[in-house]
Amino acid sequence: MKALFRKVDSYERLSQLAALEIKKKIQKGNQVNLGLPTGDTPIGMYKELVNDSQLDWWNVSTFNLDEYIEISIDHPESYQNFMNRNLFDHIDIDKFNIWFPHLVNDYDGMIDGLGGLDLTILGIGSNGHIAFNEPNSPFDSKTRIVDLDEQTIEDNARFFNSIDEVPTKAITMGLDTIMKSKEILLIAQGKKKLDIIQTAMFGDITEEIPASILQNHENLTILYCE
Ligand code: F6R
Repeated sequence: MKALFRKVDSYERLSQLAALEIKKKIQKGNQVNLGLPTGDTPIGMYKELVNDSQLDWWNVSTFNLDEYIEISIDHPESYQNFMNRNLFDHIDIDKFNIWFPHLVNDYDGMIDGLGGLDLTILGIGSNGHIAFNEPNSPFDSKTRIVDLDEQTIEDNARFFNSIDEVPTKAITMGLDTIMKSKEILLIAQGKKKLDIIQTAMFGDITEEIPASILQNHENLTILYCE
């Protein structure tokens, strides 16, 4: 394992540092393919990116990690809507370079064909999921439709009026798709996340804890704040 673990003292700092990693990639000027998450944790990072009006997105393609099935794309909590609201509506990115797994038949083939993901930002679920690869997802999984875990449905109920409104299915990049990313940055906030990060990074590498596969990644950084 070649993971770098950085604990920072505030969510603001975490957001700045995560945004900086993305900016560094973009500013190199080559074509860059980013894997992007939704959820609470990346909101500050997206704000930082939006606030940098100098950042030129012409060479960037984005590939979101996942999207709910069963809710309309117009639903405020669809991940496409989340991304428009928090990032895409505020930056000068070519809309043809924005991709979601439900829009493409062969997401993995498409990503590979474009040279693979250069940097993927991940959050982590309290059950150890990354993207929507729930416990017992195969390590060799590709993009596919999955059932959401009870724990994920409970955790995500906070975004909906009631738990009954939380979708039970999603389409997600697979663990194999994510592991092929040249660089991975996992961002997490809060004590609950520290516990699962410790289990994932120092425990057995097991499909029961999907994030434990990250121990095998050659270029992983974990950014954490309380
Ligand atoms: C969302 C995603 C999920 C979240 C995870 C943490 O696109 O891939 O794996 O990253 O559920 O979510 P938050 O940041 O809300 O704690």
